[in-house]
Amino acid sequence: MEKTFEESLGFRHACKVFDDEKKISDEDIKYILEAGRRSPSSFGMEAWKFLVITNEELKLKLRPACWSQAQITTCSHLVIILAGIESVKPESGIPKKRFARRNMPQESLDFYLKLYAEHLADTLSSDENIYAWTAKQTAFAGANMMSAAAVRGIDSCPIEGFDRDQVEDILNIDKSKFRLSMAIPFGYRLNEQSSQVRLDFDEVVEFIN
Ligand SMILES: Cc1cc2nc3c(=O)[nH]c(=O)nc-3n(C[C@H](O)[C@H](O)[C@H](O)COP(=O)(O)O)c2cc1C
Repeated sequence: MEKTFEESLGFRHACKVFDDEKKISDEDIKYILEAGRRSPSSFGMEAWKFLVITNEELKLKLRPACWSQAQITTCSHLVIILAGIESVKPESGIPKKRFARRNMPQESLDFYLKLYAEHLADTLSSDENIYAWTAKQTAFAGANMMSAAAVRGIDSCPIEGFDRDQVEDILNIDKSKFRLSMAIPFGYRLNEQSSQVRLDFDEVVEFIN
């Protein structure tokens, strides 16, 4: 039985240790990844890639580069979210392809490409600026994946506690094309209870009428 959205909000927590005997089914991991794939992205660029790691040797290699966190090796599926770098540069020709998917007339396509390049001039001026922009967007994909997992009673943990260069080198990432944004292990918790600690509603929400 799938959890309601409300139930899944209460179920999800940053899982610290997974039961390494329990594996996520192919159907469930596809459901989770699909929630990432269908996430919103700025100008519809989808500047991300999801690596799904189940190889135990590779997980063992990655763990020291991720502050030796137990989730890396005990999870069922380790999803590595990469932020696109090259694919958002106008000169790569990819933004044009992304816009062209919407079957618009040539003049609209030209308009959007011009708007894109002008609006993002500063963002596109360096790979570090691009990373800041695209990595931010990958958080939507990651959050959607974790919510989808929770709906099916599957645990997760968003992980930024890593040495970015080390992880990228282990995974042979071409840094001109992609940079590491986030690691999200998925699996089933081992005797853990979620106890959410949160600020009060009124402290984080302000209605402006
Ligand atoms: C960007 C980001 C990075 C995080 N990195 C780690 C991490 O490296 N290791 C970890 O155990 N939890 C990590 N967390 C989980 C947070 O510590 C956790 O979400 C927060 O303390 C609230 O707890 P809860 O999610 O269990 O309710 C990270 C969360 C976010 C959003």
